[in-house]
Amino acid sequence: MKIGIPKEIHKDERRVAATPESAKRLIELGFSVAIESGAGSSADFPDEAYRSASVDVVANPANLWAQSDFVLKVREPENHPQLNLHEVDLMPDGSALMCFLWPAQNQQLLQRLTAKRATVFAMDCVPRISRAQKLDALSSMSNLAGYRAVIEAAHHFGRILGGQITAAGKISPAKVFVIGAGVAGLAAIGAARGLGAAVYATDTRAEVRDQIKSLGAEFVEVPYREEGSGTGGYAKVMSEGYQKAQREMIAKQALDSDLIITTALIPGKPAPKLIAASVVEMMRPGSVIVDLAAEQGGNCERTSPGEVVVRNSVTLIGYTDLASRLPRQASTLYATNLANLIEELCPNKDGVLHINLEDEVIRAVTVTQNGTILWPPPPVAVSKQPVAPQPLKPAVAGAATAGATSKHVEPKKSATAQSGSLFKAVLPMLVAGGFLLLTGQYAPPDLMQHLVVFALACVVGYMVIWNVSSSLHTPLMSVTNAISSIIAIGALIQISAPDSLIFILAGIGILLTSINMFGGFYVTQRMLRMFKR
Ligand code: NAI
Repeated sequence: MKIGIPKEIHKDERRVAATPESAKRLIELGFSVAIESGAGSSADFPDEAYRSASVDVVANPANLWAQSDFVLKVREPENHPQLNLHEVDLMPDGSALMCFLWPAQNQQLLQRLTAKRATVFAMDCVPRISRAQKLDALSSMSNLAGYRAVIEAAHHFGRILGGQITAAGKISPAKVFVIGAGVAGLAAIGAARGLGAAVYATDTRAEVRDQIKSLGAEFVEVPYREEGSGTGGYAKVMSEGYQKAQREMIAKQALDSDLIITTALIPGKPAPKLIAASVVEMMRPGSVIVDLAAEQGGNCERTSPGEVVVRNSVTLIGYTDLASRLPRQASTLYATNLANLIEELCPNKDGVLHINLEDEVIRAVTVTQNGTILWPPPPVAVSKQPVAPQPLKPAVAGAATAGATSKHVEPKKSATAQSGSLFKAVLPMLVAGGFLLLTGQYAPPDLMQHLVVFALACVVGYMVIWNVSSSLHTPLMSVTNAISSIIAIGALIQISAPDSLIFILAGIGILLTSINMFGGFYVTQRMLRMFKR
């Protein structure tokens, strides 16, 4: 199959869907690769770099589209300004396409693609599950966008963000308020903290509280009792009472902030309006708001998508191309996400796509197959995040009655329910005790000893692992891997044996288990560092 990468035609788009490195990977998978001349130049990847990676550089975009069985793009197809043709019309019948597509918002485009009998993989449909992290282009782009939002804000702010005490006087750190601590929000917190600002952040999902704190920011609570986690790892639309309390909290916080980075969004829904126009009017002169949700309508009533506007000496930045403003790194991450997905689609490395719709990730991204619309996919199960216990401030007036949603109030257990759960807890112990007593009557003492140790190990192991949050399962696996190297003791005991064969085998055993042990602890430490500031 021939893969083609056209130059992005969307206004101000600087990213490219393949880098020379990712193109090499595609060639190793058995594909031949062609790119439009100049496609990578805005991201600092000249044609020459692609040529050295054995990529064919094609000057004419129409030719590139015509000869491609599979096109990789960043933005969804649109009208080609030079050719005066829609990009879908340039696609050969029955070909494949991989890009951001936003099927919920682009129904007409979806129909157009089906008429071409196209097979389309939408990068915005990658489910947010651990296994799909390496394909998650939305996260890799949001991560860069969050960083860039702080840089843009600092540029327009015109003051330094970090505090200083000099002979000439004291400079207080700038106060940055981040609304929505998802991928972009957390990246913004990290960047603002890195520049020395005092950072405050809020989110409707309680589970991000610890992440906010671990990055050195202060969590600002909405004084209203309601949990915001919805389905698929995303937030849910909050109740009227919560929204009112949140707007009040944000208004108060905004008046005390120099920079606001707002990223609140629930996919497929318009951005919630969290900063009222009246709040912008009252903010300190020189303050800056960066509204990352501008494309979905904006979190601020005064945002103008794609533009920078100044209202009452407050700068509102509504850029919708923040990731594209870091084009080289954005292209590298995006191209890697694409190459990872194509690797999954081409397990035999034969240059042919094998679409296994049984795989939930592949099923989710395949929005059309040979002209048949497969979108929306069945919901993907996301592991449940533990809800952090929340010491809540009293609910605001008016919200109190509607608030305190019964959902989070533990109902008192009845006496029958209590005795039932006690019975459930005691029953396995009685069964295990009875089993051990019975076995003890007949089994040799050695076996009994091992059996008891084994049973206790099972119970302790189960209790320990069951209480570890799902987000920590990967570091847990690497540490258990390291701990399993305790078997090195066997080799240590044997190494002093007179037989040279046993000596050599024990030596090899010690070497291998040491690699496992030290490697395991090293990897665990690296992973845990990712959770720390
Ligand atoms: P995300 O889904 O990881 O994070 C959104 C966060 O907002 C979640 O933590 C969610 O709990 C929170 N949230 C939802 N409703 C809320 C509310 N009412 N109040 C407070 N928090 C609320 O999304 P991600 O990937 O971080 O993207 C954030 C935004 O940035 C999106 O609007 C996305 O489209 C946009 N984006 C913009 C770019 C640009 O160039 N302007 C580039 C990349 C992303």
